[in-house]
Amino acid sequence: MTQWLTISRAAHLIGVARAELQRHVAGGLLPSHDGMVTTADLLKLYPGLSLEDTGAFEHITQIREEAFGRRIRERVLPNQEVLAQRLAAQSEELEDVRRHLAHYHDLIEMLRERIEQVASASASAQVAELGRFLDAGLASVLGSEEPADPLAVMDDVLRVMTARVMVRPSGHEFLVEGSETILDAALRAGLAPSYGCGNGNCGLCKARIVSGQTQPSRQTDYPLSAAERAQGYTLLCSHTAVSDLVIEMLEATAPDDIPVQEIIARVKSLTPLIADIALLHLQTPRSNRLRFLAGQRATLSVSGSTQNFRGEYPIASCPCDDRNLLFHIRRNEADEFARRLFAGALRPNDAVSLFGPVGEFVLHKDSTRDLLFLVCDTGFAPVKSLFEHAIAADLPGTVRLVWVATRADGHYLENQCRAWADALETFSYALLTAPSPEVAAAAAVERVLHDEDLMQRDVYVAGPAGFVECATLALGAAGLPPAQLRHELI
Ligand code: FES
Repeated sequence: MTQWLTISRAAHLIGVARAELQRHVAGGLLPSHDGMVTTADLLKLYPGLSLEDTGAFEHITQIREEAFGRRIRERVLPNQEVLAQRLAAQSEELEDVRRHLAHYHDLIEMLRERIEQVASASASAQVAELGRFLDAGLASVLGSEEPADPLAVMDDVLRVMTARVMVRPSGHEFLVEGSETILDAALRAGLAPSYGCGNGNCGLCKARIVSGQTQPSRQTDYPLSAAERAQGYTLLCSHTAVSDLVIEMLEATAPDDIPVQEIIARVKSLTPLIADIALLHLQTPRSNRLRFLAGQRATLSVSGSTQNFRGEYPIASCPCDDRNLLFHIRRNEADEFARRLFAGALRPNDAVSLFGPVGEFVLHKDSTRDLLFLVCDTGFAPVKSLFEHAIAADLPGTVRLVWVATRADGHYLENQCRAWADALETFSYALLTAPSPEVAAAAAVERVLHDEDLMQRDVYVAGPAGFVECATLALGAAGLPPAQLRHELI
């Protein structure tokens, strides 16, 4: 028997991006009704899938997570209590189906007897024909050796391992895996929920559970009022999902929705990417993580009795990992923070104040257009954040990157681009070199100017002033609507 699945669950089940299935639906390859698809249609589209492929999902997820430099999450089971509750719910469902089947069986037997009685009493050929039809139908059903639908079986397993959360009013969806909190699952899925401490103290992640069951995953200090509890409010940072949920949750849709924060982070590592560009990895305390939108900047400052310096840089990592913040710092004598950093003033475990986020270089809200990134040198940093966020959020459409370096070794994360292209068929990139930012702009625009789909893309330009000015002017002159263009000076 075929089974209906939401597109998110179907994508998770077979290990493809939701956007890929959405494209198949839009292209007519995958029939959909009210956002649901059937396991039978999925199997037609992906005929190679079988129960033995259950490992394929893990494998694909691992490739993607490695490509995006994330910590590989262990696919852990939910805790025993949650597992027991989900299994009990599934057993109840099964028992319900069994009870109904038994009733139908009794009904069919009674119908058969009744037909036999009527047929012998009336000698009606039509009633006798009806009896033969029923017998043949029953024999075919009972003798059928049709194998179980493998996707339906996989989905049953997935329902025990994960819970689906539907968010109101946005309609966003995400899955809670293992025993992770609802907040962590939302961040991992590229959503921008309201939150603060992440630790049960501030109350900023308060959300209303419209339906479904949750369970506390940690002790909290924040006191919800009796009225809030009665209305179903709970702290997303301190609860996991036992069953599928519908929740009402505040989400940031623009930079103004995110408050400026000040956090003391620690240097986790400082590694050279090339001779003049360093990768600074800061880690915040578990209970005080930086909330930001992909593409935004933060000010870093170091102060003490012997030193005091600061600088503002784009965050080069995804908001879905809000504890681990990456920055690409270029050697620059005019930049006090960079100068001190390259002089060895920062060491692992040193404290760095983070102030922010700031900046408007964020993805267009609710846009479904394809993305084009034109970057020069360390203009790659905010675009890396945008791209990783787009992948976490499973945004539909293709992504094209043109990265122009003004020095021969300037594509300092070329391997990263290759890994993305290997992991995602929707991503393509070109690496160019040019002697100056202005020439770099001309080269980047020339590379995309004759693309048929240029005017259908959201274009993000990042790099030195000369690059951004020339590229945005050229794109405007080519007819790109200003509303589809965002830029960032680095
Ligand atoms: S984020 Fe502070 S209580 Fe949840």
